[in-house]
Amino acid sequence: MDGKTKVCGIIANPVEHSMSPVLQNLFAERTGVNLAYVPFKVEPEQLEEAVRGAYAMNILGLNVTVPHKQAVMRCVKELDETAAHVGAVNTLVRTEGGYKGYNTDVPGLSRAVKKAGISVRGRGCILIGAGGAARAAAYMMMAGKAEHIFILNRSPEKGQALADWINGLAGRSLAEALALSDYGKIPGNGYFAVQSTSVGMSPDCEAAPIEDPAFYEKIADAMDCIYTPARTRFMEYVEKAGGRACNGLDMLLYQGVISYELWNPGVQVEESAIAEAGRRIRARLENPGSDRILVGFMGAGKTTVGRALASQLGAGFCDLDQAIEKEAGMSVSEIFAREGEDGFRKRETALLRRLAEEKKGGDGQITVYSTGGGMPVRPENRALLRELGQVIYLKISPDTVMNRLAGDTTRPLLQGDGGRERVEALMALRDPIYEETAHFVVQAEGRSIEAIVAEIANMTKK
Ligand code: S3P
Repeated sequence: MDGKTKVCGIIANPVEHSMSPVLQNLFAERTGVNLAYVPFKVEPEQLEEAVRGAYAMNILGLNVTVPHKQAVMRCVKELDETAAHVGAVNTLVRTEGGYKGYNTDVPGLSRAVKKAGISVRGRGCILIGAGGAARAAAYMMMAGKAEHIFILNRSPEKGQALADWINGLAGRSLAEALALSDYGKIPGNGYFAVQSTSVGMSPDCEAAPIEDPAFYEKIADAMDCIYTPARTRFMEYVEKAGGRACNGLDMLLYQGVISYELWNPGVQVEESAIAEAGRRIRARLENPGSDRILVGFMGAGKTTVGRALASQLGAGFCDLDQAIEKEAGMSVSEIFAREGEDGFRKRETALLRRLAEEKKGGDGQITVYSTGGGMPVRPENRALLRELGQVIYLKISPDTVMNRLAGDTTRPLLQGDGGRERVEALMALRDPIYEETAHFVVQAEGRSIEAIVAEIANMTKK
């Protein structure tokens, strides 16, 4: 920071839990803008003074959240159309003579929906809940030309008020409110559903707004506005019934991206920075322990880097492939030959389960683990790895794999002809899996072991 640093921030109460400083400061770093983003706790009765003060202090922009999203509308010079329609402002942008109020929750939600490959146009929609997030979702459905919206809410009156509001804007009877328990009245299937209540949010992860599996048969695509836990009970129900479901993390990220781009016209946040922000937020929310786990493709250097990292941290080291070999009394190649890849994967899962279980007892000793390249392939292993500690993905290219593993005979998956094609195909399949599993991603190509270890020690939590 220096005398030219632009200042943005978030006003809320409480503000301590906000993830916006994490993502906005990362966007500033990644887009090369000299900008700092800070949290401001503002009492409701001081909101106007706070906004006037911020303007007087030349603050470039602010995010606004609970409990100020409606009240702040009184403090702006001008309102963007969506914000005026929705009746909520989450972003203030400095203009001549005052701030302009925007709502980036709506376009953030629609960008998240698009990214998930979900289309709203001409579609039957279900909206669970009738609070602030539901308002944004109903507006997004209307703007996206949904065919019909069923609003399910515990209090039918509140649901009806939301339906009346959106029908007024749409100029037709687009939405229909039902009591939550009347979900059986929704005809047919193939719906797009948005879950906007706080039911199922951590720490009450076992709950879903509707507990009847039959309801979920109606849903083809779903978005839960909750992002802790990453997979809610609602999402589990949808997926079990054969539908697709995503959480609210992308909504959070994209409303932030849109705010950031409003404050910095002409600047664009790249998808890789958005993904990195998502990882950082998940890492903070999950608060994994101090163990470090290295994942990545064969030849990424997981064992070499792992040993060096352990020695730098004064931690223990454990190579999970070696642990499996020791336990089985056979080499990895022998296990593949006798039990097939599936047998080996089962051993991996069993070992992870045990380690996660043992960890709960906790001896306080830090361990660095290196894993076999296929460890995160099974979805249950991904969750177990993240439970075990901070997961770091060592990223390399197929070229490096080929160079490093030429002549290797210990990796059953790389034996035989067509090695290069197989590495490329497997890498294309696994790279997104490693990214999803990891709390942190590190470029492990063309760099010294010392540099990689220093970066990991620096980025992971002590
Ligand atoms: C495998 C990677 C190997 C070993 C086994 C399977 C894989 O570990 O677990 O051959 O599926 O990628 P390294 O990544 O340490 O080579």
